[in-house]
Amino acid sequence: MRIAPVTAVFLAASAVGVSLVSGVPGRASSLGQEIAGGRQIGTMSDLMAKVIYPASDAVFYIETRTPKTDAEWDALQGKTLILAESANLLMMPGRARDQDRWIADTRLMLDAGTEAFKAAKRHDVPGLVAVNDALYTSCVTCHRHYRPNYGRGSAGGPGTPSGRE
Ligand code: HEC
Repeated sequence: MRIAPVTAVFLAASAVGVSLVSGVPGRASSLGQEIAGGRQIGTMSDLMAKVIYPASDAVFYIETRTPKTDAEWDALQGKTLILAESANLLMMPGRARDQDRWIADTRLMLDAGTEAFKAAKRHDVPGLVAVNDALYTSCVTCHRHYRPNYGRGSAGGPGTPSGRE
């Protein structure tokens, strides 16, 4: 029940998005496009390779890159917050590829990112380790559905920036 208000906000945002992009939710996106008071700055590829991928690595490698000082914990909290909030960016009108499966896949990342942020706030290393599987699944689930050529010729990990496979 805790998540009900959040759900309501996303449903409202989705409804606004559909009306704004005149019938074609998602696809008709271009950089600089004004959407619901905001504007897309980076491509999907930019968001993945430069924001989500490094932020998620902080969680995947928590056991070998464990923060030691308060400043390092602050930095990790920032990365996990970026990860969780990036899910909201993926759901923006113009970025969301559709209003059902894309949103459901993105919510996996929103939920895992939220748990990671909460664990980072508690300085809870086992809690962060526990989020790993759900976070990994969130990347892979959406990539199987929407990332072109995903899985072909790569190890099928959560994500590797193109050119580094
Ligand atoms: C809701 C869908 C979705 C989720 C969730 C998602 N991705 Fe992606 N990702 C994509 C799409 C679509 C592409 C292809 C982008 C393109 O090439 O235009 C992509 C591409 C990538 C790339 C390659 C970017 C490049 O062009 O170099 C990386 C790296 C990546 N994702 C990492 C991740 C990681 C790590 C996670 C989980 C923490 C994740 N993604 C979660 C949809 C998603």
